[in-house]
Amino acid sequence: MNIVIAGGTGFVGQHVSQLLLREGHSVIVLSRNAKRGTPTDASQAQHIQWDGCTQGPWTQVCEGADVVINLSGASIADQRWTPSRKRELIDSRVISTRTLGQAIAGWKTKPHTFLSASGVGYYGDQRSKIVDETSPRGDGFLADLCLEWENAAQHIEASGIRVLEVRFGMVLGLDGGALPKMMFPFQWFLGGPVLPGTQYVSWIHQLDLARLILFLITHPSIRGPVNAVAPDAVTMKDFCRALGKAMKRPSWFPVPEFVLKIALGELSTMLTTGQRAQPQKALSAGFSFTYSTIQEALNAISQPSA
Ligand SMILES: NC(=O)c1ccc[n+]([C@@H]2O[C@H](COP(=O)([O-])OP(=O)(O)OC[C@H]3O[C@@H](n4cnc5c(N)ncnc54)[C@H](OP(=O)(O)O)[C@@H]3O)[C@@H](O)[C@H]2O)c1
Repeated sequence: MNIVIAGGTGFVGQHVSQLLLREGHSVIVLSRNAKRGTPTDASQAQHIQWDGCTQGPWTQVCEGADVVINLSGASIADQRWTPSRKRELIDSRVISTRTLGQAIAGWKTKPHTFLSASGVGYYGDQRSKIVDETSPRGDGFLADLCLEWENAAQHIEASGIRVLEVRFGMVLGLDGGALPKMMFPFQWFLGGPVLPGTQYVSWIHQLDLARLILFLITHPSIRGPVNAVAPDAVTMKDFCRALGKAMKRPSWFPVPEFVLKIALGELSTMLTTGQRAQPQKALSAGFSFTYSTIQEALNAISQPSA
């Protein structure tokens, strides 16, 4: 298949591209800085320039793709959520989705599938309540952001193509996402859970996320929202205990909520609240996770050669 990945230069996008290329697909990455990734041979993705908000020569290059994936978005956890940062977080996702939708609407040959990233933040703070794809949206900034993002993706169905909104949990890997930041204090024997510790962490190993995305684009009966999380959501306390065990470090030093609130403002809610999400649709469709428990996933990441 010919697959376009907007935002494919990021943490998730690189893993997805590598898997798709290994499986014999061809990949075009849309990037705001395409020069960074000029391919040297056909086993690499072709990088094409776009700005994420306007049509341009990229639309002709991408016409004829079988699948379009959007992973674009300014980083959620890099900066405090000031009003202007919140606008940027929303616009970089919603406008890039709409821009891809407008391009697709104008193509004579349309892709069969559009896949958009979203997040389990859609469900808001659910404490220990189990949520699946049928659960309603929750409250808070991330829930509102996910709703706007998913609505923009849903509009693309009007072009007569299948749309998937894939709600990622915390994606675990060494080369991006939250895990390397969480591992840092553990390396110095200063690791511990963010309190209250009872909040749930829904997570997925980066390899399983890439495999799930391939599974979804090759299973045409699945559509709409899909939780991209392992079946083993755990409390923050258990997550940090497993991380300490994997790194052979103690998990002794809890981080009080008020300290995070002072340091990060509203962004701290990403760590002090959580979701206990289940991958109901993926499991029902027969997807099997390589890493289905948190200890297996963190051991594999922390001790890759073990
Ligand atoms: N990683 C996680 O744990 C996680 C969890 C839930 C949801 N997600 C979502 O999944 C998607 C991919 O995650 P990721 O971890 O791969 O993110 P990432 O590493 O930050 O990559 C996102 C890509 O988006 C593009 N981008 C950045 N700022 C942008 C802006 N202002 N406008 C348009 N494009 C912009 C960048 O590509 P160029 O610079 O090449 O244009 C970047 O490589 C994101 O939307 C993220 O919110 C991730």
